[in-house]
Amino acid sequence: MVKKLKKHLFPIAKFFFDKYTLKKRKYTYEGITVKISAEVFPPHFTISTKILLEYIKPLNLTDTNFLELGCGSGIISLFAASKGANVTASDINQIAIKELKDASVKNEISLNVLYSDLFENLSDQQFDYIIINPPYYPKAPQNDKELAWFCGENFEYFEKLFAQLPNHLAPNTWMILSEDCEIDHIKQLATKNGLSFELILEKSVVKEKNYIFRIQKL
Ligand SMILES: C[S@@+](CC[C@H](N)C(=O)[O-])C[C@H]1O[C@@H](n2cnc3c(N)ncnc32)[C@H](O)[C@@H]1O
Repeated sequence: MVKKLKKHLFPIAKFFFDKYTLKKRKYTYEGITVKISAEVFPPHFTISTKILLEYIKPLNLTDTNFLELGCGSGIISLFAASKGANVTASDINQIAIKELKDASVKNEISLNVLYSDLFENLSDQQFDYIIINPPYYPKAPQNDKELAWFCGENFEYFEKLFAQLPNHLAPNTWMILSEDCEIDHIKQLATKNGLSFELILEKSVVKEKNYIFRIQKL
C-alpha cells in the first residue's frame, strides 16, 4: 500500500524536488553550513544523510581516521572532523569536491578532500571508519547529479566497490541502504567478494525502512 502510494506520488515529488534543488541551497547541521548546487546530492529531503549524522553524533571520534567514500556535500565529513576525527572525504563529482573545499574554509574545519573513483586515488592509509551512502538505483548515470543516485544498469558501482573493499576494510565500514533498493542483490554481490553484512541500525522514516550495515570479511 505504502509502496503503491509512493509510486504515484514520486513524479509529483520529483518535480518539486528538481525545482527546489535547481538553485544553490544551504544546509546546516550542528552549526556547520554547506552550500549545495543542483549537481550534488542534497541532504535536505533525503533521509540517509541525516540518519548517518545522528548515528555518528554520540561517537567519540577524536583522533580516529575517518573516510567518507562518496562524500557529496560533505556535511558528514565536516561534522566528523568537528568531532576531532582526521577526515578524508572523496568523491567522483568534481563540483562536490570544489564545494566541500570551500565549505571547509568557510566553516574553519580542516579535512582532506580529494577526487577519487572509489579507492583509486586513496593511498594505502588505513581507516578506523569508512562511511558509504551509495547510489543504488539500477540505471546508468548520465551526469554528475545522477552519479549520486544510479549505480549502473548492472550494479557496476557495487561490483567495483566490493572487488576493492577487501583490501581497504576498516573495523567500522558502514553502508546505509533503504528498503527501496535491491538489498538482497547488493548483499549477493558482497558475498561474491567474501564480504558479509551485519545489521547495526534499522530506522523507519516516513514509513520507509533504512538500514545501516557493518561490512566485514566473511
Ligand atoms: C547518495 S550520495 C551520498 C553523499 C553523501 N555521502 C551523503 O551521505 O550525503 C552518493 C555519492 O557517491 C558519489 N559516487 C558515485 N559513484 C562514485 C565513485 N565511483 N567513486 C566515488 N564516489 C562516487 C556520488 O557522486 C555522490 O556524491
